[in-house]
Amino acid sequence: MTKIPLESSDLPGHQELQQLMQLEKMATLGRLVAGVAHEINNPVCYVKTNLQTLTQYVAELDQLVDSILALADSQLDSTLSEALAGLKKRHDYDYLHAELPILLDETSEGVERIEGIVSNLRDYAHDDEGQKQFVCLQKLVETALRLVNHELKYTVRQIKREYTEVPEVWCRPAQMSQVLVNLFVNAAQAMPRGGDIHISIHECAESRVEISVCDEGYGISEEIKTRLFEPFVTTKPAGKGTGLGLAICHEIMVAHGGEIRAENRPSRGTCFTLALPIKQS
Ligand SMILES: Nc1ncnc2c1ncn2[C@@H]1O[C@H](COP(=O)(O)OP(=O)(O)OP(=O)(O)O)[C@@H](O)[C@H]1O
Ligand SMILES: [Mg+2]
Repeated sequence: MTKIPLESSDLPGHQELQQLMQLEKMATLGRLVAGVAHEINNPVCYVKTNLQTLTQYVAELDQLVDSILALADSQLDSTLSEALAGLKKRHDYDYLHAELPILLDETSEGVERIEGIVSNLRDYAHDDEGQKQFVCLQKLVETALRLVNHELKYTVRQIKREYTEVPEVWCRPAQMSQVLVNLFVNAAQAMPRGGDIHISIHECAESRVEISVCDEGYGISEEIKTRLFEPFVTTKPAGKGTGLGLAICHEIMVAHGGEIRAENRPSRGTCFTLALPIKQS
């Protein structure tokens, strides 16, 4: 009798086990990310505070040097003036004077970017979950729109609303608001030459409500379509996007027992749909 070697993938329940292991791996990764983000956050906070103090001190030192130079000039003492001119040259004073504020500005910008990335990572790993409560989606959408008004006002011509009466939804409002904010900002960024955002809220079959956010932008590019909700997938230039926005939206929607989908519209632009169960366990 010939023995047929048994592949581990043939064993009953193998696929389920693999899925469980994958889930466990993702959960561990999530905890790790939250921990690392938390650790980075502390030094970032004091670097930021110190940088603000440093900027003040440098401005004061700059004023002191300017006053000394002006005082020396007013003394009409040629030996002193020459000595000071020599010192300025030796220490490249004019260059330092011009460069210091630029360096400080760039450093602050860098620290703020790190702060933003760390905060996105913490959101992605659900470090701060907030409380669940019954929420009126219409109000939630309007609040989120107010939060991002400063980002939308330059490119978004009009917000077109199509709201129907839907029951309140049991969810974490801070997280849902974050999902909407990400979608609104993406929509505005996809329309650099302007356009409208269409928002609709409606109830659909299977006791679900849907919120759709559609834009008139350049549409999702073919190359990232299948990886849209994966972390760090972005078409934006370095420093402009971390590619975490939609990954966070996806995590939050799944944690609420809902889903997020995207499709390009036939005319132009993209439509994102958020689906949430009305009643959740
Ligand atoms: N409304 C949209 N229209 C066209 N493309 C979009 C739209 N929303 C997202 N995308 C595409 O999906 C990519 C990922 O979006 P995501 O929000 O996850 O990251 P990001 O916007 O690039 O960076 P971040 O949100 O972290 O600042 C974007 O870079 C863009 O290519
Ligand atoms: Mg984004």
